[in-house]
Amino acid sequence: MKYLNLGCGYRYHPDWVNIDFVSTGPGVLAHDLRKGIPFPDNHFDVVYHSHVLEHFPKEEAAGFLRECYRVLKPGGILRVAVPDLEQIVREYLRHLEAAWQGDRGAMHNYEWIMLEMYDQTVRNEPGGEMAKYLCQEHLPNEEYVYKRIGEEGRAIRRAFLTHHKTKERAGSKQAEQEHPPLWRRFLSGVKRLIRNAFFKTESIYSPENHDAYRIGKFRLSGEVHYWMYDRYSLKKLLEQSGFRKVQLKSPFDSDIPGWSTFELEVRDGIVFKPDSLFMEAYKPR
Ligand SMILES: C[S@@+](CC[C@H](N)C(=O)[O-])C[C@H]1O[C@@H](n2cnc3c(N)ncnc32)[C@H](O)[C@@H]1O
Repeated sequence: MKYLNLGCGYRYHPDWVNIDFVSTGPGVLAHDLRKGIPFPDNHFDVVYHSHVLEHFPKEEAAGFLRECYRVLKPGGILRVAVPDLEQIVREYLRHLEAAWQGDRGAMHNYEWIMLEMYDQTVRNEPGGEMAKYLCQEHLPNEEYVYKRIGEEGRAIRRAFLTHHKTKERAGSKQAEQEHPPLWRRFLSGVKRLIRNAFFKTESIYSPENHDAYRIGKFRLSGEVHYWMYDRYSLKKLLEQSGFRKVQLKSPFDSDIPGWSTFELEVRDGIVFKPDSLFMEAYKPR
C-alpha cells in the first residue's frame, strides 16, 4: 500500500510519504503544495491531509483536491480533516447567549471561540491574537481551551510562554529596534536615499512597502486560514472534485487499512485535534 500525508507538519509516519513546506523530520519531503503534488497519476492508495485544506484560498482548494484525485489510484481513499466551522459556530452561539445573560465562564469561552473563528483567518503576524491569549499568565478557561484544541494546546501554550519570556528578555533590544536612536534613523534615511536614487521604481525598502511585504510574506507562509468548511460544504467540494462515497468519520473510524496503527489522529485514546471535521471519499474505479 502506498500512503501520502500532505502538509504533515510534525505528524508523520515512516510508512507514509510525508510532505510539508519544509522538511520537519527524517524523510519528510520539502515541497510547496500550491505547485501541485510531485507524483505521477494513479500512484497512491491513500491520500491524507489534516488541517491543510483551510490554508488554501477558496478558489485554489478545488485545484488542490483535484491534485489529490489525480495521484490516487482508482478505488483509492482520500481522508481530510479540517477545523469544523459548524462546531465553532454552535459554540459561538452558545457562549454568546450565556455571556449576554451575564455568565462569567461563558464570557471567557466566547472570547476564545471568537479567536478560533476569526483570528486564525485575519492575523498578520505569527500566532496572532490567539498566541496573546495563550500567553496570559493565568488562563481563565484553560480546560475549555484544551477541550477545544486538544491536549496539544498545552504544548502550544508552553512553547508560546517560553517564546514570550525570551522575547521579554530581549525587550530592550526590540525597543531599540522599534524606536531607534537618532543616529540610526539618520543612517537609515541616507541608505533609503541611496537606494531610491538607484531603484527609481517603487522600492520594498520604503517603510510602507516594507510593511506590505512583511504581511504578504507572512500570509503566504501557510499559517493563516483562508477558508473554513462544514460537513455540507466539504462534501460538496469533494464531489465537485470527482470523489464519490463521501462519508463523515470520527478520528477512531476509517476505511484506511491499518489506520489506528499510524496514530496520526489519536494516541492512547487521546484525539490530537478534537475541533476537527473528518471526512473520507473514494476515487471511483
Ligand atoms: C495546521 S498544520 C497541520 C499539521 C499536521 N497535518 C497536523 O494535523 O497536525 C498545517 C501544515 O500544512 C503545511 N502547509 C500549509 N500550506 C502548505 C503548502 N502550500 N505546501 C506545503 N505545506 C503546507 C504547513 O506548513 C503546516 O505544517
